[in-house]
Amino acid sequence: MKHLIAPSILSADFGNLQRDVEMINQSEADWFHVDVMDGVFVPNISFGFPVMAAVKKYATKPLDVHLMIVEPDKYIEDFAKAGADRITVHYEACTHLHRTVQAIKAAGCKAGVALNPHTPVTLLQDIIGDLDLVLIMSVNPGFGGQQFIQNTYKKIRDLKALIQGVNENLIIEVDGGVGLQNIGTLVLAGANAFVAGNAIFVTENPAETISEMKSINASAINI
Ligand code: DX5
Ligand code: ZN
Repeated sequence: MKHLIAPSILSADFGNLQRDVEMINQSEADWFHVDVMDGVFVPNISFGFPVMAAVKKYATKPLDVHLMIVEPDKYIEDFAKAGADRITVHYEACTHLHRTVQAIKAAGCKAGVALNPHTPVTLLQDIIGDLDLVLIMSVNPGFGGQQFIQNTYKKIRDLKALIQGVNENLIIEVDGGVGLQNIGTLVLAGANAFVAGNAIFVTENPAETISEMKSINASAINI
């Protein structure tokens, strides 16, 4: 499977949100990554339903919603109604993760679980078969533009091993500090979906950057 690119709306220009959504529509990006932060699970507040509704109104590609919030169960149905195609909750925020994952599926969405940098992938062993996606955080969640954590490569390899023979279609998504400088190596390690905020939106021509990210070929990378 060709790797997927999910530009993070968090790095968009909120004064020109429609323009940035349309840029992504026209680009080779696969999904919109929607970062919801509550100021409790993470030390930052991003946006909620009204902004998501504005994105949904113009977006022609699936919404990949990353909930950095405590008690996500309370809002699963609301996010599904607001147009989420994929909902990813944090392992660290869910006491009853199995119940939460089932609730996401019952709401008609694909289910993902995100892991903070310190959380080992082995903790997903008994739920991995139920998941559509695992989001490996390669920064501590809360802000765009942070530095990529190198241990992510090992986590991708660990996750590849965990899904073998159990759920090989699972999407391995990486979020934080991803750009043209590391995407090829990440593909080689086994990841197949990439969130990128800063690396896309600070460039002169974001759509072209997306195309470059999309066309990187792991077999051409030397490590
Ligand atoms: C971080 C968010 C990310 C963030 C990525 O808490 O989950 O999705 O927007 O931004 P960059 O690509 O700038 O690290
Ligand atoms: Zn995210």
